[in-house]
Amino acid sequence: MENIINFDVSFNRKLIFGKNELWQIPKILREYGKNFLFILSKSFSLSDLWKSLESELIEEFLIYTESVTGEPTVDLIDKLVRKYINLPVDAIVSIGGGSAIDTGKSLSSLLIDGGSVKEYLEGIGNKKLSGKKTKFIAIPTTAGTGSEATKNAVISEIGKNGFKKSIRHENLIPDVAILDPYLLKSLPKHVRIPSGFDALSQLIESYTSLKSNVITDTLCEKAFLMIGTSLEKFLFNDSDEDSDLVNLSLSAYISGLALANAGLGAVHGFASVIGGYFSIPHGVICANLLYPTTIKNIEILKKGNDAFFKKFARIGNLLYGDTIENTNEGIDRLKEFLEKNLSKANLKKLSSYGVTRDDIPRIIEKTSIKENPAKLQKEDLEEILEMSL
Ligand SMILES: [Fe+2]
Repeated sequence: MENIINFDVSFNRKLIFGKNELWQIPKILREYGKNFLFILSKSFSLSDLWKSLESELIEEFLIYTESVTGEPTVDLIDKLVRKYINLPVDAIVSIGGGSAIDTGKSLSSLLIDGGSVKEYLEGIGNKKLSGKKTKFIAIPTTAGTGSEATKNAVISEIGKNGFKKSIRHENLIPDVAILDPYLLKSLPKHVRIPSGFDALSQLIESYTSLKSNVITDTLCEKAFLMIGTSLEKFLFNDSDEDSDLVNLSLSAYISGLALANAGLGAVHGFASVIGGYFSIPHGVICANLLYPTTIKNIEILKKGNDAFFKKFARIGNLLYGDTIENTNEGIDRLKEFLEKNLSKANLKKLSSYGVTRDDIPRIIEKTSIKENPAKLQKEDLEEILEMSL
């Protein structure tokens, strides 16, 4: 019997972790040249931290600065490509949430390849990225998307014919990721809560993905222990204790690393379709789908797939700090952890953003769930969506 499972994993060339490591930027940039493009989230661009960093940077380098709000669109990326393609840019630095990082990531490749980002989007365009790119440094200021570790950038157009699609290439993984847990200090609740559930969903989905492997599993298991200890305090008590900032920062990073190398399940399969049709924050969509999808997976796997059923149980135990193998208790704990945190979050349901029963068929039609551990039938998908409305 064949018992070797083939896989490959890709990581950032360098990960820098620690408090106040943001101040490593000048040192890193010296290796790259003189001219740099900074893509900042709006809130970071207005912070005192940026003012101090900027005044240090302009003494030594020529810097261009763009601030972004909302998820990147085709128009935004194309406009920035036209603006910077003929300017000397030795590296791009993104400081912000997933939107700032995905914008910088897209530019890092399109400032070399040129053209409209739409031509390279999976399922939409037919051009392939060359893999050549401008050096790219990603510095997250939220604990959520894990985009600082991934090889794709998500571009959306919202509306009736809307989409949320990725450009993807192995070389799009940021060359350097700087995780400075102190950047998560004083994040407002409306950012902490959805992004925290995004990270948790990504961990659960990639750990139970059919493409999961020993490297991503090992990292996810550690991340479940960390996020289990700190999620509640970080999301609902505004905790800025060092241990909680560290746990959230690393869990979110690992969630990105795991999804980039193991794939995702039904929550994100649905989320990319729903996020194209409706203007709903990504983390809110994930949070609404997480419980019904997990329960449905568990219900189906219980009937046959022992290995993945046990993985769900292990998640439950790890979230409560236990490494014991107790399947029934683990499943109960996973349900309890999700119920407790989701009810505290009290997020608006998808129906309050305008999603109705009538939308279910067109959402299912476009949803891809190749790596989901349980074989979900059309009725299962309908049931999950109905529960999240
Ligand atoms: Fe996500």
